[in-house]
Amino acid sequence: MSSDSVTGTAETATDHTVAGVDVGDADLAADLRERLDEVEKLLVSRLQTGEDFLSEVALHLVTAGGKRFRPVVTLLSGSLGPAPDRERLVKAAVVCEMIHLATLYHDDVMDEAAMRRGVESANSRWDNSTAILAGDFLFAHSSMLLADLGPEAVQLIAQTFAELVTGQMRETVGPGVGSRDEGAAEHYLRVIWEKTGSLIAAAAQFGGEYSGATAEQIGSLRRLGDAVGIAFQIADDIIDIASPSTESGKTPGTDLREGVHTLPMIYAMEAGSSDSARLRDLLAEPLTDDAEVAEALELLRASDGMRRARATLEKYVDDAMTELDVLPAGPANEALRRLVRFTVDRVG
Ligand code: FPP
Ligand code: MG
Ligand code: MG
Repeated sequence: MSSDSVTGTAETATDHTVAGVDVGDADLAADLRERLDEVEKLLVSRLQTGEDFLSEVALHLVTAGGKRFRPVVTLLSGSLGPAPDRERLVKAAVVCEMIHLATLYHDDVMDEAAMRRGVESANSRWDNSTAILAGDFLFAHSSMLLADLGPEAVQLIAQTFAELVTGQMRETVGPGVGSRDEGAAEHYLRVIWEKTGSLIAAAAQFGGEYSGATAEQIGSLRRLGDAVGIAFQIADDIIDIASPSTESGKTPGTDLREGVHTLPMIYAMEAGSSDSARLRDLLAEPLTDDAEVAEALELLRASDGMRRARATLEKYVDDAMTELDVLPAGPANEALRRLVRFTVDRVG
């Protein structure tokens, strides 16, 4: 994701753009901006605990930027319902963002990533132990806020937490391990639902729960979150191959160096060409050599795997739009449609 600030001065009162997305309606944009400011204040204030070093590390990625995608999903989903509970929606949005940030600190340790959101990752700026503890600190503070929301919210996030960890573990062990007999693409899609879709589905569910939505609408919101999350992660994985780091805020080719096979890679290796045979050779092991990473990136960028991954991405966009067709119409519904499109358009 880009490192633009959510509350940047570029956004004016007449602008419909919030967190990088043109939401299409001025009143909704103003309301959303106001609530995102509340999210930001609560997020920062909860992490300023007087433990200066821990706060500095935990705020490192908060202040580095990010679009606050999950808070936007909670707030917009909450705007669809008949009776939004503003305070609970803001708290739930902060919980989701804190958990997301916690996973990023841990993920960058596991991926040995040097950059995040255009700045040095915490593990690179400090060290692994510091980054892991910062993630734990964020998780602890998200749990304190969550307790205010009651046992059902705690249950939802506990379940989501288990899914995040399961997805990360499933990615680490790779396909063909354990009782599941599934192909590489199927394994990949399961992993990204668990490690990305589950939290975005929870963010959307919170929106429904705290705005008086019906059980049926909450089901639709969850499925919308699932589809957006999967689309979002496929987009990220395409960007990991396609973009220079100046655009993605991360080091390109991180997945190659970690030996993680993402959807464009899986599809590119499935083709019958000599390039795909060379890619299968190259990607058999995590890449350590810069020249091999450059060669793999070049082959992948030219491969049909990128087109097929984009087509799969579009399928999940369609699924998300289908859920929006049955959710209440209005400016929030239109804004969610634009948010979904934005997820795809950032891959170019
Ligand atoms: C990013 O994937 C990683 C995730 C979305 C989930 C990570 C989950 C964990 C680390 C386990 C759970 C931990 C906690 C604290 C709940 P990526 O590496 O493909 O994306 P990137 O390009 O953004 O690094
Ligand atoms: Mg990573
Ligand atoms: Mg990872």
